[in-house]
Amino acid sequence: MERRKSSSDRGKGPNSSRKGRAKNPDPKTPSKIAKTALGAEPEKRGRVNAVPTKGEASSRDFNVHVKTAKRREYGSTLWLKRQLNDPYVRKAKAEGYRSRAAYKMLELDEKFSLLKSGARIVDLGCAPGGWLQVAVKKAGARSTIVGIDYLNVPAIAGADILEMDFLDEAAPDALKKMLNGDADIVLSDMAAPTTGHRSTDHLRIVALAEVALDFAEDVLTPGGAFVCKVFAGGAEGEILARLKQNFKTVKHAKPKASRSDSAEKYVVATGFRGRE
Ligand SMILES: C[S@@+](CC[C@H](N)C(=O)[O-])C[C@H]1O[C@@H](n2cnc3c(N)ncnc32)[C@H](O)[C@@H]1O
Repeated sequence: MERRKSSSDRGKGPNSSRKGRAKNPDPKTPSKIAKTALGAEPEKRGRVNAVPTKGEASSRDFNVHVKTAKRREYGSTLWLKRQLNDPYVRKAKAEGYRSRAAYKMLELDEKFSLLKSGARIVDLGCAPGGWLQVAVKKAGARSTIVGIDYLNVPAIAGADILEMDFLDEAAPDALKKMLNGDADIVLSDMAAPTTGHRSTDHLRIVALAEVALDFAEDVLTPGGAFVCKVFAGGAEGEILARLKQNFKTVKHAKPKASRSDSAEKYVVATGFRGRE
């Protein structure tokens, strides 16, 4: 099938070039994102002091102060402070999830009953693997779970992971081969690194949602579901029209674990009507 390309998805954006993701120069080694999402190596990023919050001195509820290291930029210090004080980051670390994003999927699953036992699941943009861990836990040993990300994702028992750009022409067929049949659900938490330029970022998000939906329409079994990260006003325009045409139900959700200061939300489409 000819894959849709928007003006921003190939040739220009960070998804088409490795430039925007130079954070993991050696794709064979686990990425920094995978390590730092759980705050696993904060000590390597600078000194941190854990200080109990006034009047709430308990080992679980504390406030971490980050000393600004000479070479660390102000923005990185803020990011580190937010990570270390984020209850979902701490919860993920305590419960063995690789990312706080796992709680978004747990909540979406609770609300929409998405991850059924034995399901065939595709996870687009799966690094560092929180959603995959939830999928394995919920869908169990009889399930088929495949994930893709251009970042390296350390192995997860019960899931097959492809290290590849989903916008690569070869990616959809590679995933289909791994699935060995239709999918019951396609999840996409893909997000390109933001540029700070609103309309560019918006175009990139729409482009990723569009190719994710192309793929979903190509692999879903009738009755299947599609979950996709969208921003601001949610799925809109042509994407929303396609979702409404091809799925029985289309809803938007903002899980509690999704930061309130982020415009991120998810579109959840269930009851795929099937291909003609
Ligand atoms: C918010 S993270 C996903 C977190 C994941 N759901 C979890 O639970 O750990 C978004 C991911 O999308 C990936 N991504 C963005 N564009 C992509 C593309 N074109 N191909 C593959 N992965 C992509 C990024 O590398 C990043 O790891």
